[in-house]
Amino acid sequence: MEVLMNNSISTFSHFSLIISNPLNPGSFSVFFNACNPLELSQSPNCAYLCENRPIVDIVHPLALDYAEKFSSAEDSVLNDITVFAHKHPHAQMLSGHVQGKFLEMLSFLVQPKYVLEIGTFMGYSALCLAKGLQPGGQLHTIELREEDAKTANTNFDKANASHKIILHAGNALDIIPTLQMPWDLVFIDADKTNYAAYYKLVLPQMRSGGLIVADNVLFHGDVLQKEIKGKNGLAIHAFNKMVKEDETVEKVLLTVRDGLLLIRKK
Ligand SMILES: C[S@@+](CC[C@H](N)C(=O)[O-])C[C@H]1O[C@@H](n2cnc3c(N)ncnc32)[C@H](O)[C@@H]1O
Repeated sequence: MEVLMNNSISTFSHFSLIISNPLNPGSFSVFFNACNPLELSQSPNCAYLCENRPIVDIVHPLALDYAEKFSSAEDSVLNDITVFAHKHPHAQMLSGHVQGKFLEMLSFLVQPKYVLEIGTFMGYSALCLAKGLQPGGQLHTIELREEDAKTANTNFDKANASHKIILHAGNALDIIPTLQMPWDLVFIDADKTNYAAYYKLVLPQMRSGGLIVADNVLFHGDVLQKEIKGKNGLAIHAFNKMVKEDETVEKVLLTVRDGLLLIRKK
């Protein structure tokens, strides 16, 4: 790994934020040369880096702090989930403040009657997406792990959203074919090796003009490498290629957090 630092190396020597270097494909670099070490260490997002669990892989932590500061605040239930999730070994799976607000904004723009979410975790993104539902609309979310499904249901109760969010515990590959709604908005955020399968399952059931949002399409920078290694990076790259070649949809890949692919059915 190549490490480029202009500031105090000792200050940063415990960091392991790995970012692929676009100027030198195949190598990895840590770019903190433009940072003020004091500012960075005061950044709330810095904590994630110091704990060796980069939540924000691509976006500079100071830029993320700035984005959070100038976005609407999380409501109290979402904030409680954020605080609770940081004690969880898979805390980095949570959409988080800015991405959550972005999903909420999309949902308000789409005004969906039926939303499908694949991968609930603690229910953070489900609560964001449910905010834009039409009156009488439903959000169906699928979670494989019992423990997370229970936590999510508790959070839906706390947010008074249980009447509009239906949680299905089990494997999404089995559950999706049993749900026959005309989806307006779908959020794909479960196991990366099945993204292509989820896409093929949901697309025929989407209404024309419906929107699919797929998370982690940069997969921590893995897809940027000259030679992609690892099954998740390979699966995500294959998924991105498949969507790119699908002429029945419009798409834009956004460098929000770990990469969001927005796909609109024509
Ligand atoms: C990245 S997390 C979801 C985060 C959540 N959407 C959010 O932003 O707050 C992915 C979740 O998908 C679940 N998952 C993985 N494979 C699954 C499958 N085959 N079916 C359903 N859920 C699955 C995992 O247990 C995990 O909780």
